[in-house]
Amino acid sequence: MLNFDYSIPTKIFFGKDQIQKLPEQILEFGSRVLLIYGGGSIKKIGLYDQAIKLLRETNIPFWELSGVDPNPKIESVRRGIDLCHNHQIDFVLAIGGGSTIDCAKLVAAGYYYSGDPWDLMIGKGQFENALPIGTILTLAATGSEMDPIAVISNPETNQKLGMGHPLMAPKFSILDPTYTYSVPKNQTAAGIADIMSHVFEAYFSNIKSAYVQNRLAEAILKTCIHYGPIALEEPNNYEARANLMWASSLAINGLLSYGKMRKWSCHPIEHELSAYYDITHGVGLAIITPHWMEHVLEDSTVEVFKNYGVNVWGLNPNEDNYAIARTAISKTKEFFITLGLPTTLRSVNIDEEKLKLMADAATKKGTLGEFRPINNQDVLQILKSAL
Ligand code: NZQ
Ligand code: ZN
Repeated sequence: MLNFDYSIPTKIFFGKDQIQKLPEQILEFGSRVLLIYGGGSIKKIGLYDQAIKLLRETNIPFWELSGVDPNPKIESVRRGIDLCHNHQIDFVLAIGGGSTIDCAKLVAAGYYYSGDPWDLMIGKGQFENALPIGTILTLAATGSEMDPIAVISNPETNQKLGMGHPLMAPKFSILDPTYTYSVPKNQTAAGIADIMSHVFEAYFSNIKSAYVQNRLAEAILKTCIHYGPIALEEPNNYEARANLMWASSLAINGLLSYGKMRKWSCHPIEHELSAYYDITHGVGLAIITPHWMEHVLEDSTVEVFKNYGVNVWGLNPNEDNYAIARTAISKTKEFFITLGLPTTLRSVNIDEEKLKLMADAATKKGTLGEFRPINNQDVLQILKSAL
């Protein structure tokens, strides 16, 4: 296991009606709030009314940035920063899924940066302070509620980039699984694929001595496999929604990747698909992941695939390692199909045209992953096999 410094600073308020703690939590950090949300799902489920009632009752003034898109755009961030400056905002509250939360994170960081916030995403500028952030999560997927990462798109440059900084970790997040009852089937499924992919990015690693992290990872994968289909069948099943919600946070908050290298493979590929075609993140991951697995399966990696097959899918450990690995990969693909997720790029309207462009862009800074490093030619092959 490699050395690591543990720090997961976000306070979590998990369970039904935890929103009651919202005012006291905000007041610990600020007094004038920018409320950020997406296209209106929070209004449909009554969460918006509930939140603003609590703010009004406690005399916390607030302003709003609404209409944050899935795959949030830099333009929303710019608008948010302007609102913060114009109204002396000192606290950012995101209510929604990963897109809303990520937008809030860059608003919070960009507030203290004098240039354009996109500079921070491309490493052209730095920030030494950020507004405090709180979140109310409505979709189990990205783990943004408990990590310090923001993923933002710039349609002008066809870029979708991730950036992490400890100052962007939310101070608190309210996780009430009942808010996810209304998440439609396709987003629920995409969220599950995203959670599983976050686990895979840490699990498929050459640091095999991180035994505890690997067993925790398997438990989270089994949770997704068990509760995913239940949540799709019974959207209001509290147990299923609660387990998926907590799995989303645990998959990426650091627990699984501490003691390992953090060099991801499928995510950088998917970010190019979203950058060029604006597809749903989890859908892209579900398409790419089985092809990535097939591509990197070789003598140096087969043992981890065997563990995955035996410990997660319950395969017979006495079979040949490659046979176990291949069955585990097909089971992964079949599971995504059971969730109703697409399996080919063509089914999300992506053809050959930009595959090379995307493969080159994904590997612009070098090879991806440490498990079995892949270069632009590997990525191109993976994309072609996913067509
Ligand atoms: O915009 P609204 O109206 O809220 O609707 C959203 C949106 O259309 C809807 N939704 C959310 N909660 C709902 C709901 N609909 C009904 N009921 C609810 N309770 O779902 C749609 C998708 O929302 P979005 O926030 O885009 O989804 P998600 O949470 O999957 O976030 C995806 C974004 O996060 C990034 C992705 O790349 C993508 O841009 N990621 C962020 C990460 C991070 N910060 O650590 C890591 C991830 O790997 C990922 O890259
Ligand atoms: Zn993801």
